[in-house]
Amino acid sequence: MRRAVVRGTGHYLPERVVDNDFFAQTLDTSDEWIRSRTGIERRHFAADDQRTSDLAIAAARAALDNAGMQADQIDAIVLATSTPDFTFPSVATMVQAGLGMTRGFAFDVQAVCAGFVFALANADGLIRSGQADRVLVIGAETFSRIMDWTDRGTCVLFGDGAGAVVLEVADGDGSSDDRGILSTDLNSDGRYKDLLHVDGGVGSTGTAGVLRMQGNLVFRHAVEKLADTAHRALDKAGLDSDDVDWLVPHQANLRIISATAQKMQLPMEKVVLTVADHGNTSAASIPLALSVADRQGKFQEGDVVVAEGIGGGLSWGSVVLRW
Ligand code: UT7
Repeated sequence: MRRAVVRGTGHYLPERVVDNDFFAQTLDTSDEWIRSRTGIERRHFAADDQRTSDLAIAAARAALDNAGMQADQIDAIVLATSTPDFTFPSVATMVQAGLGMTRGFAFDVQAVCAGFVFALANADGLIRSGQADRVLVIGAETFSRIMDWTDRGTCVLFGDGAGAVVLEVADGDGSSDDRGILSTDLNSDGRYKDLLHVDGGVGSTGTAGVLRMQGNLVFRHAVEKLADTAHRALDKAGLDSDDVDWLVPHQANLRIISATAQKMQLPMEKVVLTVADHGNTSAASIPLALSVADRQGKFQEGDVVVAEGIGGGLSWGSVVLRW
């Protein structure tokens, strides 16, 4: 059976680091409120001349280096973003050109904060079906470009960054002992589209718009739906919570992450946390967390890793893989 195995990880964070006190200068907020309600201490913001594709290219190069591969060995790029440089072409094709890659195919996936999970599931499908042997999967965002800087309920939460993984085909026997992606679980429910959305776009206002969120409602959906999807994906893989070595959740809010871990009966020692340093980087948050944890030497070959995320749509899902 064809399995998609992680061969390399990489990430890029813009140089500019912004701490919570920055927001207290102009808004009725405080470092104490942001830390205690979200776990966020700082985030990175892209420079004025940095676009999502620049962040993505840097992360992709780091992941290729880490995998010991050249760009021309890659068959496909699947890139998750909701903050593309342009309406089209896709950021993925810009990454392709930026890497000097002259073969294969590249496309973007848009599922907001669940984007990387959706991208991984797509890449897994491409590999399983034989359409690609090596896929670069990227999450890259510049959410600082779609903030309402007068809305304390949203602008303190988000940051910019990019993360990438290289997947390569490997033979497995189809059991849960195989290395690689073992199962995926994807969900959307468009009835909740207004809870978290951007109030502009090419087909409506003709502007980029800014992010709007009913945070406390999204919070409730997140806690319920993230534990659910993780359990479903584990079930599909023939595993349960006891088998999980690492949970790599979307990094939106430490309270959501702790509540999900508790529902899954996982100790926090098994949870990868980057929310304090990165804030919510939407589709970039999971690959950033994977890459940071990989650099820290957390993952051992054979470890069961569960990645899960939820975002606008609502869309949510999870991926179970053996490192
Ligand atoms: O990435 C996609 C998924 N997104 C998420 O998962 C985000 C989910 N939501 C959250 O993380 C949380 O709901 C927030 C962090 C956004 C808000 O925390 P909360 O505990 O749900 O607060 P709340 O929205 O219920 O607001 C409580 C109070 C309100 O004041 P009043 O009405 O009680 O007087 C807010 O106006 O906190 C106020 N507030 C703030 N106060 C100081 C909201 N933002 C701030 C702020 N500083 N930055």
